[in-house]
Amino acid sequence: MSKIDLLRDGHNRRIRDVRVSVTDRCNFRCQYCMPAEGLPWLERDAVLSFEEIERLVAVLATMGVHDIRLTGGEPLVRRDFPRLAAMLAAVPGVQDLSVTTNGFLLERDAEALVAAGINRFNVSVDSLQRDRFFEMTRRDALPRVLRGLEKLATFPDAHPIKINAVGMKGFTETEILPMAEFARTHPYEVRFIEFMPLDADHSWDRSKVLSGEEIRAAIDAVYPLEAEPREPSATARVYRFADGHGKIGFINPVSEPFCGDCDRIRITAEGKLRTCLFSLHEYDLRVPLRDGASDEQLRETIRNAVWKKELKHHVNDPGFVQPSRTMSQIGG
Ligand code: 5AD
Ligand code: SF4
Repeated sequence: MSKIDLLRDGHNRRIRDVRVSVTDRCNFRCQYCMPAEGLPWLERDAVLSFEEIERLVAVLATMGVHDIRLTGGEPLVRRDFPRLAAMLAAVPGVQDLSVTTNGFLLERDAEALVAAGINRFNVSVDSLQRDRFFEMTRRDALPRVLRGLEKLATFPDAHPIKINAVGMKGFTETEILPMAEFARTHPYEVRFIEFMPLDADHSWDRSKVLSGEEIRAAIDAVYPLEAEPREPSATARVYRFADGHGKIGFINPVSEPFCGDCDRIRITAEGKLRTCLFSLHEYDLRVPLRDGASDEQLRETIRNAVWKKELKHHVNDPGFVQPSRTMSQIGG
């Protein structure tokens, strides 16, 4: 086989990480993502099969894309999801296989997912108070999510476990210190993510973003923080508590964009390649997959699309256009 070039975009960024959405369906209705009534789901045969996902991951791995994150919607609602995880863990070249989940089905699936080879988990928890969790996710599910986390924490291979909390003005202020205390007393790294314009209701505006810096300052005033060195291409700025009790991170895509060394692409549940969360164009991979394209033809399609990867997002520019897809239809 001739040598295959590593995947690069037109701004000379190496692409190493792909986020694969395995379903657009979700059992939650988070305010920053879905409308209360849900969204029209994709038809079953529109969604890539396990074999199709495995093929794309294998082709990407030959191009140097070694980190795979499985997302949704909610990935654990996809039937037999642990079997898919095991298939992907076995793909030559896959080095890191992780999942982002709302945690609702973790109590059921944690063991199978760890056994399948998932080595990193991100679990979304926006509040540690039951009624506020309900308000944000529109599901009264906090106790169940916390049980899922505890189950996950029993597996040494699952660590570190990361908790994602979206920072929204008027909601998150009262959650900051309880979250920090949770991070200090549990084996979890809490990360706050700034609210981004990917909500179904298109109700995002800048005034609703609680910035990572505001949250960091509020924590630092009570529990002093020390910055850790930033890893290349990392989305989070990580701090440790100065007294040694754990870590906390801030993902600040709105106030401090980190597009410059972005190494990520995304594949939606129906097989569209997206080169940015905020892309307005996407590239179909399902038709070539189903039409019998060769690996080299798939690589060519991927290379051409990735070449045009956006230099940066335009959330902060006048005239920004919000993508019509929501986070649940893209994959976090
Ligand atoms: N802004 C920021 N984060 C979001 N997420 C979903 N929608 C948004 C949004 N509009 C987060 C979820 C989850 C991950 C998949 O993305 O909380 O952790
Ligand atoms: Fe579901 Fe995640 Fe969207 Fe919440 S943020 S509705 S858990 S896909």
